[in-house]
Formats: sequence, structure tokens, C-alpha cells
Amino acid sequence: MSSYPALRMRRGRSAQWIREMLAEHRLHPSDLIWPLFIADGKDGEEPIASLPGVSRWTVDRLAARAREARDAGIPCIALFPNTPGNLRSDDGAEALNPDNLMCRAIRSIKDAVPEIGVLTDVALDPYTSHGHDGLVDDAGTVLNDETTEQLVGQALIQAAAGADIVAPSDMMDGRVGAIRAALESDGHHNVAIMAYAAKYASAFYGPFRDAVGSRGLLKGDKRTYQMDPANGAEALREVELDIAEGADMVMIKPGLPYLDILTRVKDAFGVPTFAYQVSGEYAMIEAAVAAGAGERDPLVLETLMAFKRAGATGVLTYHALHAARLITG
Ligand code: PBG
Repeated sequence: MSSYPALRMRRGRSAQWIREMLAEHRLHPSDLIWPLFIADGKDGEEPIASLPGVSRWTVDRLAARAREARDAGIPCIALFPNTPGNLRSDDGAEALNPDNLMCRAIRSIKDAVPEIGVLTDVALDPYTSHGHDGLVDDAGTVLNDETTEQLVGQALIQAAAGADIVAPSDMMDGRVGAIRAALESDGHHNVAIMAYAAKYASAFYGPFRDAVGSRGLLKGDKRTYQMDPANGAEALREVELDIAEGADMVMIKPGLPYLDILTRVKDAFGVPTFAYQVSGEYAMIEAAVAAGAGERDPLVLETLMAFKRAGATGVLTYHALHAARLITG
């Protein structure tokens, strides 16, 4: 091992060309998945106050977003519906309506831009009047097996509408295996599952809940099903179970505060491992920019590079389109 002055670490940083040549990781638009919110109605864009720069789009205007994503080199978009209030119910039955906002959006995107991947969220929270991801009994308990049955139905109608990846985000036990079995017996052999395998009960989801209209509705919190931020080893067990049940890819969520989990999962299992830079993380960057505390472009690129360095296969981020355009110049 040589040491100073034979070794000067700064030689490798002395010019842009050598920094580029020695870079251990690179960002590419294909690392990005762009989450999009769907609004009811026609020819509409609804800005989301707590997510500045992000809007809900009506189904007829979504395909244009998908085209922008494709043209920027983004391989996949993720869809989240803001279900009209009159269609929300205790049992979230609208989640099973093959003509709901989500399914109409899937069909219109697959019609217009068939070459982009469509990932759909499987969970009941955009459809329930209580804002929980599952069915709730009279005592307020979120029911596991009954919920799973409904999630299976939800995943099947999404797959039938053309979803390429279904992504259960509800954290019920056993749902990945149940969904995989149902997809297989329905002939959806190539519909993949990205399991929200280690999803934490986080304070960073607020703006998302505004976007899908569940924030004001939510009774209590999600700590009986989402993970305790105190736990790391438990995330490995969650991921192991979801892989055993047939998950093709796993996700860690939120993103930056859980990079340690991402690295441990990637190192332990080596499966495609995604990070979700969630709404509160996006909002923090935008708040920093608005306050003059930092500049958007370098903040976005540095945080996305951090995911790559930590081992992420890809990142779901609301900055995806902006970042993809920055990366390709
Ligand atoms: C709900 C779901 C949530 C997110 C994705 N799917 C919120 C929650 O669990 O309450 C959060 C995404 C974000 O904050 O950007 N099943």
C-alpha cells in the first residue's frame, strides 16, 4: 500500500474527464420510475399543494405524460388514482370495479404508448372511506386474510386492464403468494410483482395522502401493518418472505432515511431492489429550493446517485421526468 505523497487521492478528482472515468456509479433514465396521480373528469390538471410541481391528470391527459416519460427514456410509470368521494366506501368495493379510474387509465396508456411499462399499486386506501389499506372490522382492526382476498381481485382486474407490474403496497401478510397464484391461474404469466416488501409506517407519506385524497379520511395510523422504523433485521425477513411467495422485485420505502435497509437487502438477496423516494422526501427538496437552501438540480441528482451507490436497481421518484432530462442533457 503506498501512501502520501506517492498516493494523492486528489489526482483522481483533478479534472472532469478523470472524475467521469473513475465514477463507480452512473445515473441513467432507465433507473427511474415516474409515479403519476389520476384525477376523475375530463381535460383536467389538478395541482397538489403539498407536492409543488406535481399534478393529478385526467385519464385523457395521462397518455401525454406517458409519452413524455418514454421520450425521456423512462421505462415505467406508476399509477395512483384519486377516487371520487362518492365511490369510496368502508369495504373499498370500487377497487374491484374493472371500469374504475385506475383501470381506465391503464387501458388508455397501454393503447397510446404500449412500449412503456405500467406499474399499479395494489392496496385499498384510495378506495376506502376510512383511508386504510385494508378492510377494518368494528373494533378498528385491519383484517389480514379478508383484505388479501380483495387485493387478489384488485390485482386481477389491473392485470386484465393491461398492468405490467402489480405492486402490493398494503403490507398484509401472505398477499404476494396469493396474488402470484391468482395471476398464474388467470394466465397472466408475464405480469410481474414488485412487492413493497419493507414499507415503514412513515411520517413522509403526507403529501401522497393529499394526492390520493386519503389524508383527511385516515382513522388512526398504519402501525399495525407497516413496519416500525426502529427495525432493520425485520426488513430482511419481510423481503425473504415476499421473495419466497413469488415477488419478482422488492421495494424499500421510504428512500433516503432507509438506505441502510436498501443496502442490506441488496447484499443479502441480490434480487432487483427498488427504492421509493416518497412524497415527503420530494416535498423536502422542493421546500429547500423554495427557501433558498439549495438548488434543485444538484439536490435531485445527488439524492438519486445515493440510491444507486447504496445498491438500488432503480428509484421511484416524483422528480423522474426532470431528472431523466437532466441526465441526458
Ligand atoms: C398506500 C401507499 C402510500 C404510498 C404509496 N402507496 C401511502 C401510505 O401507505 O399511506 C406512499 C407514497 C409516497 O408518499 O410518495 N398504499
